[in-house]
Amino acid sequence: MADLLIGQVLQFTGNPMTDGVEAARHSARGGVLIEAGHIAEVGEADDLRRAHPQAKVTDYGKALISAGFVDAHVHYPQTAMIASWGKRLIDWLNSYTFPEEMKFADPAYAAEIAARYFDLTLSNGTTTVCSYCTIHPESVDAFFTEAERRGVRAFAGKTCMDRNAPEALTDTPRSAYDDSKRLLEKWQGRGRLSYVVTPRFSPTSTPEQLEAMGALWKEHPDCLMQTHLSEQTDEVAWVKSLFPTLRDYLDTYEQFGLLGPGALFGHAIYLEPREVDRLKEVDASLIHCPTSNTFIGSGLFDMDGLSRSGHRIGLATDTGGGSSFSILRTMAAAYEVAQLRGRPLHPSELWWLATQGAARSLRADGRIGNLAPGMEADIAVIDLASTPAIAQRSERAKDIWEAVFPTIMMGDDRAVTAVWVGGRPL
Ligand code: GUN
Ligand code: ZN
Repeated sequence: MADLLIGQVLQFTGNPMTDGVEAARHSARGGVLIEAGHIAEVGEADDLRRAHPQAKVTDYGKALISAGFVDAHVHYPQTAMIASWGKRLIDWLNSYTFPEEMKFADPAYAAEIAARYFDLTLSNGTTTVCSYCTIHPESVDAFFTEAERRGVRAFAGKTCMDRNAPEALTDTPRSAYDDSKRLLEKWQGRGRLSYVVTPRFSPTSTPEQLEAMGALWKEHPDCLMQTHLSEQTDEVAWVKSLFPTLRDYLDTYEQFGLLGPGALFGHAIYLEPREVDRLKEVDASLIHCPTSNTFIGSGLFDMDGLSRSGHRIGLATDTGGGSSFSILRTMAAAYEVAQLRGRPLHPSELWWLATQGAARSLRADGRIGNLAPGMEADIAVIDLASTPAIAQRSERAKDIWEAVFPTIMMGDDRAVTAVWVGGRPL
């Protein structure tokens, strides 16, 4: 049976970052028709009602029907240690992150946190995430088992590390390859799940391990590859000292077969000109993690320059380095960071980055991240008056963008009225 959702509807016909605000289409009384888990039609509510009298109608009134949010870089195992105080990247990893990740040797703990993580993200309107797991294969099974149970489209991989981490959190080039390959063969393409080749970052992988990851990715070019790049200046200097003969940080991936389309680089703040050019040339994805970059004190991503040059850019929370599970909060941080660099991002650009842009960074924009015929029906319904502070501001809005922006800046999970996953309401 078909479902017809009615409300304000927001969809994209292009990329507002390059094509302007006209690339977003808004209907004040629109409808989204869902059939067999997919979007069948998007149009005016009255037209769709007339054409599909048998469809079951859910009327969301003035709430905004949008594609579900897509979070292109997260660490689900860091859920329970989010908002840990006072450290910068390397100390933060050693003090908070690694001790927490060690707990994932216990499959029961991994299952508990995976369930908690999906509860939190879905209640924030996030319908797809791309996650790091821990070095434990059990942490990958826990994540995908939970994602499969809930029917969400999800991306993840076993984090690989064979140096500069506690003994209990290290694998070897051989075991990283073997375990990753086994997990890849088990999960890649099963239902809505995708495996991601995941070396954590160059400081925690030997050249031998990076080479093994490059070999695995080469054998499975349909998979994505995710890692971290140039997040903090100390980290960049450390990478230079670990790989003294290589040209730059990106070269530590490039030399081992870890650069290409389908590569996702988290943070990418301190890039040298060669790196900027090379990333564009191969059309790799840069993942902007604004709440993390301010929380851990990393720096200000160059959204203006990198979007102008046509780089493929996604948006992400980077929980638990990021300080929120909410993509609304993440859009607000992206706005603030861009302001500090002199480029106010338009609400249509922020919303695109959080949906279609993030999906595009995962090369899944043909399936998720937009409301259009043929897309999978992952939907977030957003109340644009969810708190008194937001309501009194959006009330005097003169257009849809002025009505949406207070929710971007001040909204949280209270704004998420409903979430649909694969054509079914949660
Ligand atoms: N670099 C390497 N590992 C991590 C991580 O877990 N979080 C962040 N923010 N940066 C990293
Ligand atoms: Zn990260």
